[in-house]
Amino acid sequence: MKQIGILTGGGDAPGLNAVIRAAVKTANNVYGWKVLGIKNGFEGLLNPGGVIPLTPETVRGILPRGGTILGAANRGNPFARRLMRDGVEVIEDGSDDVVERIKNLGLDALVVVGGDGTLHISRELFEKGCPIVGVPKTIDNDIGGTEITFGFDTAVSMATEAIDRLHTTAESHHRVMVLELMGRNAGFITLQAGLAGGADVILIPEIPFQYKSIFAKIRQREGQGRHFSIVAVSEGAQPIGEQQVFQLASDGIRAGRLGGIGQIVADTIGEACGVEARLTILGYLQRGGSPTTFDRWLATRYGAAAVRLVAKQGYGRMVALQGGKVVDISLKEALKQPRQVDLNGDAITTARGLGICLGDE
Ligand code: F6P
Repeated sequence: MKQIGILTGGGDAPGLNAVIRAAVKTANNVYGWKVLGIKNGFEGLLNPGGVIPLTPETVRGILPRGGTILGAANRGNPFARRLMRDGVEVIEDGSDDVVERIKNLGLDALVVVGGDGTLHISRELFEKGCPIVGVPKTIDNDIGGTEITFGFDTAVSMATEAIDRLHTTAESHHRVMVLELMGRNAGFITLQAGLAGGADVILIPEIPFQYKSIFAKIRQREGQGRHFSIVAVSEGAQPIGEQQVFQLASDGIRAGRLGGIGQIVADTIGEACGVEARLTILGYLQRGGSPTTFDRWLATRYGAAAVRLVAKQGYGRMVALQGGKVVDISLKEALKQPRQVDLNGDAITTARGLGICLGDE
């Protein structure tokens, strides 16, 4: 009988539990394999008490639940572990310990559910001999080789609902409402929610913007008697020739997280156009809560397909969606380049055709 492990790494995304449930049930029902859950990403392989048995009974009822029953850790890179030694923070390579632990636990394979960072780590561990298969996860939808990642649809639904809600208050108060959305260096969430919610201005990282085109759009709407506007801006968007904006930690040092461009856009519009501009940052509401039907459906297919991939010993590979079908591709291919919005694709053409300002014209 085989025994496989499963872990969820990086930031959470709605649908992780659906992947875990499908993997455990498929491993058990179809192949008669045992499954061990690794807690808090790769950290569970390095810490005592980091491994728990998963059975069809223990995963019962988790399908609609957000988050991950295994816990996640997006600073948990085993190749560069941050540890305290004699009161001093040191960075150590614990990857050999991970390889060892996988062997000692008697794992025939490890299913890793993660985004770009976690999948990069998986690829390196695979190259050190670990039998790993990947499942792409991120609300940002920025992983190469797959048309969509689970978690994205839920995030877009939340963002669209936020735009709908901002519309009514914007119209009542004759305000410009700026909504800052997640997505790192990809504008998929902002573009899709912006189109679905009817935003007037959509600013994404793939199209550096100029303020004058945003001002022109707001003034044009004012001239038409529409005394309110909705601006959807990606956390990774930036004005032409300027840097992306990062959050600052309490000591004023730049934190590793994008965020803050929304406030700058709102202030600049308010000053230049003489309107009241307000900012909403949707933040982690995009990641939390129950997955949509689509995300449950995709996550379930991915979880089951990952176990089938283990059965055919497709190590170093990841499940992906191509042409609506679940396939598998090498991690190397998937990680070649992060996915970004296609500037010649129909979504951008549609936005332009609808008169939405993308900040560049
Ligand atoms: O990658 C998912 C994501 O939510 C991004 O959209 C966002 O920039 C980042 O994670 C936030 O990360 P953290 O969980 O470290 O705050």
